[in-house]
Amino acid sequence: MPRAHKYDVIVVGAGGAGLMAARYAAQNKDVKVAVISKLYPTRSHTGAAQGGVGAALGNVSEDHPEWHAFDTVKGGDYLTDQDVAETFAHEVVDAVYELEHMGLPFSRTPEGRIAQRKFGGHTREFGKSAVERACYAADRTGHMILQTLYQQSIKDQVTFFNEFHVLDLVLEDGSARGVVAYELATGEIHVFHAKATIIATGGNGRMFKVTSNAHALTGDLMSIVYRRGLPIEDPEFYQFHPTGLYKIGVLLTEGARGEGGILRNKDGERFMERYAPSIKDLAPRDMVSRAMYLEIQEGRGVGPDGDYIHLDLTHIDAEIIEERLPDITEFARIYLGVDPIKEPVPVQPTAHYAMGGIPTTIDTQVVADGEGTVVPGLYAAGEVACASLHGANRLGTNSLGDLIVFGRRAGIEAAKYAARVDYEPMPAGVDERAREELERIRAASGSERAAHIRKELQDTMMDNASVFRTEATLAKQVEILADLRERYKQVSVEDDGQVFNTELMEVVELGFLLDNAEQLVYAARNRTESRGAHSREDHQDRDDDRWLEHTMVYRNDDGSVRVGAKPVTLGKYEPKPRVY
Ligand code: FUM
Repeated sequence: MPRAHKYDVIVVGAGGAGLMAARYAAQNKDVKVAVISKLYPTRSHTGAAQGGVGAALGNVSEDHPEWHAFDTVKGGDYLTDQDVAETFAHEVVDAVYELEHMGLPFSRTPEGRIAQRKFGGHTREFGKSAVERACYAADRTGHMILQTLYQQSIKDQVTFFNEFHVLDLVLEDGSARGVVAYELATGEIHVFHAKATIIATGGNGRMFKVTSNAHALTGDLMSIVYRRGLPIEDPEFYQFHPTGLYKIGVLLTEGARGEGGILRNKDGERFMERYAPSIKDLAPRDMVSRAMYLEIQEGRGVGPDGDYIHLDLTHIDAEIIEERLPDITEFARIYLGVDPIKEPVPVQPTAHYAMGGIPTTIDTQVVADGEGTVVPGLYAAGEVACASLHGANRLGTNSLGDLIVFGRRAGIEAAKYAARVDYEPMPAGVDERAREELERIRAASGSERAAHIRKELQDTMMDNASVFRTEATLAKQVEILADLRERYKQVSVEDDGQVFNTELMEVVELGFLLDNAEQLVYAARNRTESRGAHSREDHQDRDDDRWLEHTMVYRNDDGSVRVGAKPVTLGKYEPKPRVY
């Protein structure tokens, strides 16, 4: 028998969005809230976010939420839902002040206000020049958000189930009733019965070889809802952050360019002047990553193999680097033996962020189709979700903004819902599916190893479905994925124990990653245009007549994949070519 729990609201995931949601749900004292996380909360990946959270506070120079909304829509290559961008740009201002009042130690201006710096794609007066909008705590902004929110959640008496892997979502008669989870310490199965379930489990970057994402980012819930017949929106839009440490992928914040850092090719040329004459190195990430690849392809890459680019900070005052960018300075010293104060740092684009995810309304309710039919009792926020804020390309700093704005909305909405409905009955045997899958893996006696399949997945996704794609590379990747799926069935595990069986969980996570890759590749193959982070070498133009719509990818009952659409909410910003 599974161990049973009952909470009005459960939150899956303990990063910024999950903790913000839990805090807000817990403000309603009649609502019992639990967080289920496969990590200890302060190890969540929000802690790796560095450079800042964008909000038009205007502390350093004039700024307005309207300008932020416009930049978000333009940065998203007009696939952003404009009502969402407007709401977001206004609410994020208040959310940042709220974090400050919770005690978050932001860096300060000389006058004592929250310090702000420039970041890619954030501009004044609708694109005129770069604006200081990123509110930061040195280059540890995500870390500070995570610590602050965790402390607040403890104060608010949220219950935590740490190192619990969610394996299934209970979806009965179209409504969500909780989740099934595996306790890593004991191997026990737990069933969490809830009136409202909030999904906030972050991204899926581990499907790529070079990534800034932590090991835990295996897209678990994006796979689980998909297996349950719900769609994933816009998975083809996957962001590569321009400045990952060469070969390792560890993030070097865009804040480094916000502080004046420059990207240079092997000739020492500031090549972004050619690609984005007005804001240069602070162009949106999709443009910068593509420019870096083109420099490398055309023989202007740096190094013996000509396969990286230099991030040059040597002209910046050493004190500024040490004070505002201490972590990335250490990363470069430790991992590459390069001191950014004295020499340029080798960098390459690194898989960073999923613009798509579980589709939601502006109020974070999960939707089941392109018509916007809401799934009662199910909410999603943060990177795992797609409220259609980021469109085809997210601006730097809008991820932390997304967590706090939509995490808060999710907590409020879920608590309101839980306060007004009764528990729906929990069907018998809800844990069977998860148990059967674990038994299947434990019983498998094939010679395949999860590590080999994962490596092939990551290598081939990098080759065939990363910054540039074509029909040929995507078709090839469809076949590779089908083959990896067959081999996955033969994966066996050596550890047959119940206690901390991380090998078993790695196999489960690999299954999730394969689903995430499938979603991305089918969507990318379907979209025969280039927009934002989706760059098709065989369809190089943006095609608003045909493709100004969101993608919705579904898995059919027979395992085949169906690609549908959902309308984009347009507004006052007419789609125009993106010039920076
Ligand atoms: O560059 C960075 O600090 C990353 C920020 C982000 O992804 O928003």
